[in-house]
Amino acid sequence: MMVTGYIQTHNLSRVYDGQTWALNNVNLTIEEGDWVSIIGPSGSGKTTLLNMIGCLDKPTEGSVVINGITVNTLNQRQLTQFRREQIGLIFQQHYLIPYLTALENVLIAMYYHSSVNEKKAIEVLAKVGIEHQRQLNNKPSKLSGGEQQRVCIARALINEPKILVADEPTGNLDQKNGQVVMDLIHNLYEVGHTILLVTHNMDIAKQGNQILQIVDGKVWSSN
Ligand SMILES: Nc1ncnc2c1ncn2[C@@H]1O[C@H](COP(=O)(O)OP(=O)(O)OP(=O)(O)O)[C@@H](O)[C@H]1O
Ligand SMILES: [Mg+2]
Repeated sequence: MMVTGYIQTHNLSRVYDGQTWALNNVNLTIEEGDWVSIIGPSGSGKTTLLNMIGCLDKPTEGSVVINGITVNTLNQRQLTQFRREQIGLIFQQHYLIPYLTALENVLIAMYYHSSVNEKKAIEVLAKVGIEHQRQLNNKPSKLSGGEQQRVCIARALINEPKILVADEPTGNLDQKNGQVVMDLIHNLYEVGHTILLVTHNMDIAKQGNQILQIVDGKVWSSN
């Protein structure tokens, strides 16, 4: 069988509680190195789509194929391994591990991916403006919302993931830190990584090479 498309969804649907069609029969093809911006109203299914492609949740119907692998047929252990190796996730909520410091939250992502390199972790945290000893050694509850988001971004970028899945990555950030994060995403894009980015900001959406609009669980290409 000929394989086209780096990421494909086939008749992908996700129904919550047997009644909410958060995604409704979505067929997408995303090529390696694409930057796909996803826009759409609140509640339209954007996070649900990222959860499917980011291997965090399974479809109700249909499939997700990444690099020839039908990910929804993997078992939980295989799925976790696939995600750690291939995908960097920036969530709308932070999901940092509460009992680990900022630095340890980044180190553990390296540990699960390959091997721990504290110097590199500190460098990547510095790039997102987390550079004081106090910030590095604080647990998430003692960081501001924007600082937590930046730690998450460092954690997502530390392993230079082939696929970056980002749900409103600049949503909680001021203009300066938002720009820093967008610059990091551009750097990944320029060296050929695949980016899926949800945003409500059209100026950010336009920086990608493809814009998808989601309305009521259906995807429309809007460019
Ligand atoms: N775990 C869940 N259980 C039940 N319904 C859910 C669940 N998660 C999402 N939904 C519903 O599915 C629909 C799509 O939600 P989703 O989170 O994908 O929207 P979104 O486009 O990301 O919105 P926002 O811009 O507000 O983040 C919404 O109607 C939401 O209420
Ligand atoms: Mg969302």
